[in-house]
This record gives sequence, structure tokens and C-alpha cells, in this order.
Amino acid sequence: MDNHSLIDEIRLHSDIVDVISSYIPLTQKGKNYFGVCPFHDDQNPSMSVSKDLQIYKCFACGASGNVFNFVMDYEHVPFREALSILGNRAGIKVSGNFDNKNTKNEPYYKVLELALKYYQNNINTVQGKHAKEYLKGRGISEDIIKEFGIGLSLKKNDSLTKLLEEKGYSLKVLNDLGLSSNTNDTYINRIMFPLHDLNGRCIGFSGRIYNNEDTNKYLNTKETPIFKKGELIYNYHIARDAARTKKYVIVMEGFMDVIRASTIGYKNVVALMGTAMTKEQANLIKRLSNDIILCFDGDDAGLHADLVNGEALTKMGLNPKVIVLSNNEDPDTYILKNGKESFDKLVKDAIPWSDYKINSLKKNVNMKSDLEVANYINNVIKEASIITDEIRKEIILKNLAKEFDLEYNTLEKRLSDYKSKEEVKKKYR
Ligand code: CTP
Ligand code: MN
Repeated sequence: MDNHSLIDEIRLHSDIVDVISSYIPLTQKGKNYFGVCPFHDDQNPSMSVSKDLQIYKCFACGASGNVFNFVMDYEHVPFREALSILGNRAGIKVSGNFDNKNTKNEPYYKVLELALKYYQNNINTVQGKHAKEYLKGRGISEDIIKEFGIGLSLKKNDSLTKLLEEKGYSLKVLNDLGLSSNTNDTYINRIMFPLHDLNGRCIGFSGRIYNNEDTNKYLNTKETPIFKKGELIYNYHIARDAARTKKYVIVMEGFMDVIRASTIGYKNVVALMGTAMTKEQANLIKRLSNDIILCFDGDDAGLHADLVNGEALTKMGLNPKVIVLSNNEDPDTYILKNGKESFDKLVKDAIPWSDYKINSLKKNVNMKSDLEVANYINNVIKEASIITDEIRKEIILKNLAKEFDLEYNTLEKRLSDYKSKEEVKKKYR
């Protein structure tokens, strides 16, 4: 097939509504479909997608184009890679002149796939007896083990390396991928959790200790040509569909939390694999849904993560909510102890992040001190100034005015001062 007919063939098999709705939720209104534009900070469905014309257009920022433009802009890739992504999706092979980054990494994916199968097989052998017992003790059933591809690395320190070398893979590739360290396996006697990219391909692993003395609870794949921790979100490929139907997504810290949530029917859950959220991760989460619920551990780190990550998402024009667990609790233990209905209720009662933030500002304020009260009021106004929803903003100011018997206008003026300061800061940043 020449290049022109290949492009046409892929275009024909890439309906723009199907493709765009695999990235962002779309709602049909009349002949067209509408969604929140992913190319600028927005909350309103400003982007329209036409099935007839096979184009999209954002009325707010002007982004527009065909299915290839969308994928190029969304994935930040050149044309030939967008072509390959859509080709893969449509089951049309893109090769030859269109050789690209994806196909360059193809051998890597193959090796990781083999490693994954190997680990999965191990856990079902005699050598996996203790690992299975450990998982069973934590309420992880055979089905979950299969569903999440959980496996086991063996005690012998070069079994995987040897196997893959025998299959013809070079030590260099194995080292580059973080599977081996020199001639030894990187992972020794750990329960292995595969980590996937946005498309569900295995790109690395996290190995957990289960009955030995190693102090490092989890060992993650190092940075490799295809594994970038700052861009990784656990369970993204599964949560993408579930978030679209459920219309919200829950963000947790650990993958054990995600796995547990899945057992009570929550598939629209992802994990940051820690409490830090990078800009890339935030953007990826925004693509899943505009309704985001943060559900971190109940310890200090988790509470801090609620504040910081909630603020980052709010500044992106979203209205995140927060579920706060009690100290020493994480979603995993909470669900194990209290069951599905209790967790359903937590989700239903999740509080808007701005309320959470205002509550946290109020803690330890001495209400008898004018200085502290003024300081508190200023801080609340500062928070309100980053909220994009005008109505919420007004409610917050009105409440403040009422609570402290102040003029609404005074508060509003202060808010616009903060806002213009922020604008100036943004400009010169
Ligand atoms: N993590 C990590 N390395 C560590 C500890 C944690 O990479 N040494 C990451 C893991 O991805 C983990 C997440 O941070 O899933 C949350 O850590 P933690 O709350 O300690 O893990 P749990 O999910 O509670 O795991 P478990 O219940 O198995 O202890
Ligand atoms: Mn935890």
C-alpha cells in the first residue's frame, strides 16, 4: 500500500467521534458531540465534534482539525506517530516509511511481555506457595491475581536473565529495561505487579517484599526508554473506560488501594504510586474526567497531598473533591474493614477541595486575635481567587462576610487584587 492509500485507509477506519471519545467524554446534542476541550483550561463543553464532517472545533480556544490533528495535539506526537497510533487502534499495520518511535520500542515491549508471563507463571508453581498465602492473607483472590497480572520473581538470582538470554535477548537490552542488573535479575523473591502505559502495555514492574527482611518494601523499575515514573499512572488504561461511564475518577496513592477498590466494583480508580503528582500526571488525570475525587492515606503525607494536589487541579480549572480517611488508614484497609457500602458513602459525601482547604486554614486560628482572624480571612480569599467557578467564589465570600460581619465589597475587592497579582506573576513566570 502506498502512503496515500494507507493514510486514507486509516482515516476511513478512525471515526472522529470514536477516537476523541476514547480520550475525553463526549455528549451528543443533536447532530454534533460536545466535550471539554483538552487544549486549554476549561470546564465547559466548548469543543464540538462533527460526525458528518469528521472534524472538531473548540469555540473557546479555536483548536480545530481532523482526527490526525487531534491525536497529534493530544499526544504531542508528529504526524507519522499519530498515524501509527490510529493504525494500531484500527488494526492496520503502519511500517516502512512510517517507521517511528513506537515501532522502535517494539522489541522492548516484547521482552517485558515475556518477563510478565514468566513472573505470572512462577506464582502458580510450588515456589509461589508462600506468595500466594501472603496474598490470600490480604484478601487477594485468584481472580484478582489474574486480573492485575500479579506474579512472582524467584529466589535464584539469575533465572529470568538466563531465560531471556537463551531466547536471544542481549544483556544490554535486559539491563536497559531494568529487568537485569549486570548478569543478575533485578527482582529477587518479590511479588511482581506489572505497570502499564496508557494503552495497557506492560512497561515495567513494582516488586513487593512478602516474607523477607529487605527494608525496601517496593522496588520499582528504574527510568528506562519506555518507563517514566513521572508520567505513570497505575490502572489508567482500565480506568479510562470506567471513568467515562461513571463520569468521575478516584485518585489514590498505592496500587494496593486501587486493587482493593476494584474488588468492590470501583474500576474508575487510579494511583499516583506515592503522594507526589507531576504536571504530566495531573494532565493525564484531567483527561480521564473533570470530576476528580482525591482519596489518599489518612496520614500526614496523605493530608498534605490532598492540599497540594487539590490546589494544582483547582488551578487547572477543575473542582476536585476530597475523601479524608482517619489516621493510620488507607483506602485498602478502610475497604477491607468497612466494606463496599461504607466506601460508597465516603464517595457520595466527598467534600469539595476548597471547603477542605478552608477548614484546614481555620485550624489553630485564635478567633480572639484580630490579627489572626484577618490573616485567616485573607487566606480564604486567596483560595477563592484560584477557583474558576464564579458561583462557588461568591458563596465563599458571602459566607465569610456573614461569619465575620464584613462588607461583601471589601472582600471582593481583595479577591480581585489577589487575582491581578496572580495574573502578573503568571505573565512574568
Ligand atoms: N511506593 C514506592 N516505594 C516505596 C513505598 C511506596 O514506590 N518504598 C509507592 C508504591 O507505588 C505504593 C505507593 O507508593 O503503591 C503507596 O505506598 P504505601 O501506602 O506505602 O503502599 P500501600 O499501597 O499501602 O502498600 P501495602 O499495603 O502493600 O503496604
Ligand atoms: Mn498505603
